[in-house]
Amino acid sequence: MSRPVLLDTDPGCDDAVAILVALERADLEVVGLTTVHGNAPVSETTENARSILELVDRTDVPVAKGADRPLNVPLRTSEHIHGEGGIRGEFPALTAASRPVDAHAARYIVERARAHEGELTLAAIGPLTNVALALAMEPELPDLLDELVVMGGAAFGPGNVTPLAEANFHTDPHAARRVVRDCSPALVGLDVTANAAVPPAEIESLPRDDPLGRSVHEWLTYYDDAQLEQYGIESAAIHDALVIAALVDDGVLETERYPMAVGTDSDIARGALVCDANGVTGDPPNGSVALEADYERFREIVSASIERYLERFEAEASEDPVA
Ligand code: BDR
Ligand code: CA
Repeated sequence: MSRPVLLDTDPGCDDAVAILVALERADLEVVGLTTVHGNAPVSETTENARSILELVDRTDVPVAKGADRPLNVPLRTSEHIHGEGGIRGEFPALTAASRPVDAHAARYIVERARAHEGELTLAAIGPLTNVALALAMEPELPDLLDELVVMGGAAFGPGNVTPLAEANFHTDPHAARRVVRDCSPALVGLDVTANAAVPPAEIESLPRDDPLGRSVHEWLTYYDDAQLEQYGIESAAIHDALVIAALVDDGVLETERYPMAVGTDSDIARGALVCDANGVTGDPPNGSVALEADYERFREIVSASIERYLERFEAEASEDPVA
């Protein structure tokens, strides 16, 4: 039986890989993509989400456009990392088939959670504004969900926006604070996702004679040399896809539950995830964080999905050489 998953996303190159893998897996049923500001303004992340669906012929998956800014701080986007418009790659023209549904993402999250009561996994791989708004609309949201998995925070390592803060939490710290406090999330943080990459040799072996191969190549290589050097890694971190890999294989992550909180100050604590590993607060655990990942398993899951897409596209092209 496949597991219903709703992806709240800000595509984004690593979001694109996460979406691709989630759509390809027979053990997951993607019931929608909700979009949020983040890697680019929400009008662009929404177009990017639609473009990804168009690229792989999955316009049957509904898209709901969400928040255009954080709850309490000014909008901050990351085109300098993910490319102009928030994503790299080559996309077909958008069609009416991928047009967003007539509901705000936060409302759509609540609707889907009610429709799949107790069964839905919400995988949030962008700033948490939509999730926080959904929680404000429906305080029972955590109970309606099977699980909330979040790419966010840097639990036991340095941040990528400030020394303490990871981008998704830094972008909307108030939403992150609320969701971490009240939703019992499973956090997959930067300290673990930073090494979730596909090896350069494998990336270079991707065929580039069709748009899908070329786009996937761009998504897997979106860091420039300075960023690779900065983080001491060989190829770009595909942060968000680690969340999807963990959904389909529970051996991918090692996790631990802690009392946790998120800083919201405008200063150095903004978006900082604090895990009370020594139990000094005396508070009960309110969520889990990933401590370690099996990157080999991650890579196998991502590569296998990409390979299956490419095989399918190749087969379709040879059946219809004019298309
Ligand atoms: C997170 O921030 C975004 O830039 C990525 O898509 C990912 O979700 C990593 O810090
Ligand atoms: Ca993202």
